[in-house]
Amino acid sequence: MKNRTALLNCLSPFLLLFALLANASDNPPQAAIATAHPLATQAGQEILNSGGNAFDAAVAVTAVLGVVEPYGSGLGGGGFWLLHRNADNFQVMVDGREKAPMAARRDMYLDDKGEVIPGASIDGPLAAGIPGVPAAMVHIAKKYGRLSLAKNLAPAIRLARDGFKVDKQYRRYAEMRLKTLQRFPETAKLFLHDNTVPPLGYRLKQEDLANTLESIAQHGESDFYRGALAKRLVDAVKKAGGIWSLDDLKNYRIVEREPVRTEYRGMKLISAALPSSGGITLASMLQMLQQYDLHKMSDTDRAHLIIEIMRRAYRDRAEYLGDSDFVDVPVARLTSTAYAKELVKGIQMDDAMPSAELRPVGKPGGAGTDTTHFSILDKEGNRVAATLSVNYLFGSCFVVPGTGFLLNDEMDDFSAKPGVANAYGLIGAEANAIEPGKRPLSSMSPTFLEDKRGIAIIGTPGGSRIISMVLLAALQYAEGADATSIVQLPRFHHQYMPDIVMFEDDAFSEKVEQDLALRGHVLKKQMSPYGGGFGHYGNMQGIVWDKHKNKVTAASDTRGIGAAVVFKQ
Ligand code: DON
Repeated sequence: MKNRTALLNCLSPFLLLFALLANASDNPPQAAIATAHPLATQAGQEILNSGGNAFDAAVAVTAVLGVVEPYGSGLGGGGFWLLHRNADNFQVMVDGREKAPMAARRDMYLDDKGEVIPGASIDGPLAAGIPGVPAAMVHIAKKYGRLSLAKNLAPAIRLARDGFKVDKQYRRYAEMRLKTLQRFPETAKLFLHDNTVPPLGYRLKQEDLANTLESIAQHGESDFYRGALAKRLVDAVKKAGGIWSLDDLKNYRIVEREPVRTEYRGMKLISAALPSSGGITLASMLQMLQQYDLHKMSDTDRAHLIIEIMRRAYRDRAEYLGDSDFVDVPVARLTSTAYAKELVKGIQMDDAMPSAELRPVGKPGGAGTDTTHFSILDKEGNRVAATLSVNYLFGSCFVVPGTGFLLNDEMDDFSAKPGVANAYGLIGAEANAIEPGKRPLSSMSPTFLEDKRGIAIIGTPGGSRIISMVLLAALQYAEGADATSIVQLPRFHHQYMPDIVMFEDDAFSEKVEQDLALRGHVLKKQMSPYGGGFGHYGNMQGIVWDKHKNKVTAASDTRGIGAAVVFKQ
């Protein structure tokens, strides 16, 4: 024993050096941030440069995105933050998803005849779930951050108070939602100018929002969920036809959940757990793809196969997936190799299988650049991938006077009626029916990829198409791609119903397009929602740390207006 201690003592300087070296090689040469808005990227960098870690930066970026992209996320919304702490390889998903109020009922969006009332789950406070963003920010800062909450919220407070310049993205989205924004006077006052879309460069100041953020900086979540602000929210929501109660706010809790993990040809994928459908659907698709060798395939065969596996995984999503706190979801089975082998049996390489021929369980949605995602890597190798949302553009378009933030319309992510499509054309069944206190099923899929080469941090908005975008990105990473080629990759998508392949203009060569049509696929080019021809969808923010090359790359999708930085922290 004595000898052993002596031996350890004399070895300890070497052991320490070894540990330091091992650790050093596990630290990236640079830090990186990619977000959907240059001001959010800047705020994240400011926090990392003033001693914060990736988790502090995530809080700062979350808050700033809510200020500068009010159409995409904010205090009135929710999200999923996937965290990786490098020192002990700890990974967790912070679930700040909205919850249905306790007065919610499964048929609350149906009329007397049992038909879905158009817009009822999208516009106005009846569409809003109980927000999770304030609670999640406080939790992440307290438990994982190094700086104070006030320090992390400072950039957002500053931008809300001093204002930011309205950009083309803001104008586009405000234009698309103009009628509903005009319907609510407080909303029109804050987010429009002279009751119309503010001009480019107009400085949008948000004094009320600055005050709300200030209150969170000083008192944490208490005022929002239990104090005067809670009372103000509930009173105004009720007055305008909503169903929130003080108890709903008081009882809201974020949940730390184990991420979904799967492995594809030596690459680990770590992604969002229920109530996001992302991780499970991705795992199911990768398990199916693993039964084939994509490298040995022609371009047409490869695209055909990926479409067929998307069809099958999205069908299971519709049938089985919902909030696991409420329904039993056979996660292990759905993500198992054995089940994947069963599913691929029906795939014919020369023929598309109509979705209607799968065991039974709509229409496509908007541009898919609202909602938001950001990716962060700090100098210690800590990572955050977060996808946040108020759901549809500008959420429910409803602002409680004096608070400064829009309430979400995440209730539309529930299945209002079995088989009837939501805003993203998604259908659902019993598992995703509305229940009091339940979280609506999401597609948001913040994801880490890990293999021998290194790691990637990815995610995107885009409603139902988030999951297929992340799948294509993961396959691209597996080919050795850097961040730019991952986020710029042309996209295609199939979600079981409607039975069509949506694709970006440059996703397929002319020959592949013809061949796919010959095999029976119905192909539909994504059209620009703004007119003027073909369109794009998604707004991916990606970081790749290539350990072989000792190089970090970061990229913000050029389909959006975001910014990525790689810098010495
Ligand atoms: O949670 C979800 O799946 C949706 N609320 C996300 C919405 C979205 O990505 C909108 N972007 N086009």
